[in-house]
Amino acid sequence: MPKIVIAIDGYSSCGKSTTAKAVAAKMNYGYIDTGAMYRAVTLFFLKERVSFTNQKEIEAALDRIHITFNFNARIGRNETCLNSLNVEEEIRTMYVSNQVSEVSAIPEVRWAMVAQQQKMGRRRGLVMDGRDIGTKVFPDAEVKVFMTADTYIRAKRRQQELLAKGELINLEDIIKNIEKRDLIDTTRSESPLVQAPDAILLDTSHMTIEEQVDWVIELADRKLAEI
Ligand code: DC
Repeated sequence: MPKIVIAIDGYSSCGKSTTAKAVAAKMNYGYIDTGAMYRAVTLFFLKERVSFTNQKEIEAALDRIHITFNFNARIGRNETCLNSLNVEEEIRTMYVSNQVSEVSAIPEVRWAMVAQQQKMGRRRGLVMDGRDIGTKVFPDAEVKVFMTADTYIRAKRRQQELLAKGELINLEDIIKNIEKRDLIDTTRSESPLVQAPDAILLDTSHMTIEEQVDWVIELADRKLAEI
């Protein structure tokens, strides 16, 4: 059975990661959450007070950053590690969310992350989610999905996720954060968030996660049947 790369790009809080993770598990593929990598870099920059505009400081900091994904068998999922430290929870807080778009717009940061992601995906049989997977990281991905959803619905989903972790944030603030991130992500000069010409659009506003997963798997099965 041939193995393919499934690239899932799109806006935040459309269900990209949850869908990608479930698709990978069902297909017995690897899964890489590239947003987690940008979040880990952001956490490092904030903790070490790295200037977002000083190229020398940025380059020196990137040399000291090592990101890995460790599988935690107890909870059955990957956890993001920054220099061997588990930062899975910390990278999802608003503290990091508020700055991550700015950090991920820095060209040096993107070059370093894209190179790592391409290395991680050298063997096919992989689901990768992010913003530039189908356009930049794996332009030759066999399956490309571009996810979108209504901003209000995305904010409600984000609020529920944060609440489940004990963070109570008002909806207005979440909408502001989402709109700010969308603007930065779609207008940055280095690989902005854009739908690849050969990506298939999926509006998840009124879909359940199960429906999203089935939709992607059907797409992948159709592709595999063609190969
Ligand atoms: O998917 P996420 O919300 O965890 O991503 C966090 C941020 O990282 C998001 O604001 C955009 C950025 N990002 C990116 O620029 N390129 C990627 N491949 C993945 C994420």
